[in-house]
Amino acid sequence: MKTLLQIRSSIFSDGGQSSQLADRFVAAWREAHPDGRIRVRDLAREPVPHLDAQRFGAFLAKAEDRTPEQRAVVAGSDALIGELQRADVVVIGLPLYNFGVPSTLKAYFDHVARAGVTFRYTEKGPVGLLTGKKVYVFATRGGIYAGTPRDTQTAYVRNFLAFIGMDDVEFVYAEGLAISAASKEQGLARARAEIERIADSQPVAA
Ligand SMILES: Cc1cc2nc3c(=O)[nH]c(=O)nc-3n(C[C@H](O)[C@H](O)[C@H](O)COP(=O)(O)O)c2cc1C
Repeated sequence: MKTLLQIRSSIFSDGGQSSQLADRFVAAWREAHPDGRIRVRDLAREPVPHLDAQRFGAFLAKAEDRTPEQRAVVAGSDALIGELQRADVVVIGLPLYNFGVPSTLKAYFDHVARAGVTFRYTEKGPVGLLTGKKVYVFATRGGIYAGTPRDTQTAYVRNFLAFIGMDDVEFVYAEGLAISAASKEQGLARARAEIERIADSQPVAA
């Protein structure tokens, strides 16, 4: 039985354009995997706190030395990582906010990057430990950035995911959503067609 983890990072929760595109994909995946398991992690409804020195200190402390507060911090991070470990497919809704990824997604990333758990350092450099997963990212933007140096998200998200072992990542873009009604419709229609193409191809059925 396959497991899909859907991560929403729109401030509008399931009402965001990125969430709705991701939902379309997840619906197609569900059809292909009637007995598959789907877990939704909604970062608007359940935001992960910002990483601070105290929380990072909890990650670094030896398990046997952790205070009850530190154990709670690590348990929260472990729960997020457990969802990723169990997932065969990871779906991320990725809005562009003020030229970056949503701060909720950054906070989430900060809590799943754990030395010795999701990556480890070797003599040949860092090695990601969350391997063997397929990731689909549904990126929504008011303007048009994909393929230009002004796209701050794609390389960052790819690099981060690869760092923790997830290097099979496919992006679907819906752009120009704030330019005009026609541009929005065109951007969404393109993204929906791309979702159909992916759903009809092999990887979604994997
Ligand atoms: C707070 C905020 C900041 C935004 N910043 C940008 C931006 O820097 N560049 C851009 O092209 N669009 C920007 N947008 C437009 C969003 O990218 C667009 O509305 C997209 O659909 C958001 O995804 P969502 O609906 O899933 O939240 C911004 C929207 C909001 C609400």
